[in-house]
Amino acid sequence: MNVGVAGLRFGMSWAQIFDAYDETDLIAVCDLDGEKRDRAREQLGVESHYESFDDLLDDDRIDSIAIFTPAPLHAEQSIRSIQAGKHVLCAVPAVLQMDEARSLVEVVSRSDRVYMMAENWVYEPALVRAQELYEEGALGQIYYAEAEYYHGVEALRRHPDGSPTWRNSLHPLLYPTHGTSPYLHMTRDSFTEAMAFAASGRAEFADGYETDWIQTAMFRTESGGLFRLSNSFQNVQRMSHFLSFHGDEGSFETGRFSEARTVCHYSRGGDKELIREVCEHTDLPQFGDGLGRGHGKTSMQIVLNFVSSIRTGTQPSVDLMLALDMTLPGIAGVQSVHSGNWETVPDPRTWV
Ligand SMILES: NC(=O)c1ccc[n+]([C@@H]2O[C@H](COP(=O)([O-])OP(=O)(O)OC[C@H]3O[C@@H](n4cnc5c(N)ncnc54)[C@H](O)[C@@H]3O)[C@@H](O)[C@H]2O)c1
Repeated sequence: MNVGVAGLRFGMSWAQIFDAYDETDLIAVCDLDGEKRDRAREQLGVESHYESFDDLLDDDRIDSIAIFTPAPLHAEQSIRSIQAGKHVLCAVPAVLQMDEARSLVEVVSRSDRVYMMAENWVYEPALVRAQELYEEGALGQIYYAEAEYYHGVEALRRHPDGSPTWRNSLHPLLYPTHGTSPYLHMTRDSFTEAMAFAASGRAEFADGYETDWIQTAMFRTESGGLFRLSNSFQNVQRMSHFLSFHGDEGSFETGRFSEARTVCHYSRGGDKELIREVCEHTDLPQFGDGLGRGHGKTSMQIVLNFVSSIRTGTQPSVDLMLALDMTLPGIAGVQSVHSGNWETVPDPRTWV
């Protein structure tokens, strides 16, 4: 399978994975930045290097495009790739606006091409353990869950010339999927309504940041429960992620900070003991030892699932509908921050 990767900052690690995997040939890369294209050529020996996304689409040898460009470009580039007959693996979030989601549904539902969203958190070891416990019935029905995604990304908010990047004004709730995805992937529940709030620190500490420092949403779930999501890209502690699932038979929490991905604490029905477990990444012999240790292994699992879904004609683990179930609640949350009301989270299946 011939692959082209667009966007070579975070996308470079994905280019390395496609290059290393026996089942895929990385034959083209695309980035506006010539230095990044040169680096891909030097490090990975990629044949074709395009400055323009149009040229990537016009390359008839390419079967699949991996989109790792800025989030505001995801919807349009996914739509155009599917229309050009390519399979799509797209970085999170799938879309930033409701009308983009409708257009994407319209195009993907009329096509036989695979669309997958590259959401790592469903493959993080602690969350894989949560899924096992849920499937065993150890947690019962989850009636309340929480996710916090705090990621100070000041260094990525300005281009070298000082002008703002897309991250300088991205509403935190428009990047919801690291928080929403594990619960939705595990339960196949969905969110129906959002009520959200925002807060910021003092202006003299904002350093030109153009949106709320934190946005917190409460979602009602289709199954009758509640889910709280708090997101921030402007916080002193650079990185802190946390998820918890409260079921009527058991409860589960990830560790915090660097332990969120691999440590969990849980209690299961009848047995009130709190168990602490350190969870391991799956061993992936398809890739060499030198590539993507730890967190990078989740990206490899996504690539394996994407390729297998194309080869076997099965749905990828995060297909378009699930991707939108994970993404649209954040858009409804931002609507709620502005309106002060509960906002409906649409069901994208009704758009087909
Ligand atoms: N864990 C995760 O899932 C995770 C982590 C990081 C980033 N992301 C997502 O991945 C995407 C890429 O993130 P990033 O940090 O590399 O973003 P970035 O803005 O730092 O880099 C994007 C790259 O795309 C290039 N680019 C911009 N416009 C382009 C165009 N029209 N055609 C081709 N190339 C173009 C830029 O030159 C740059 O190299 C983002 O959407 C982000 O939300 C996800």
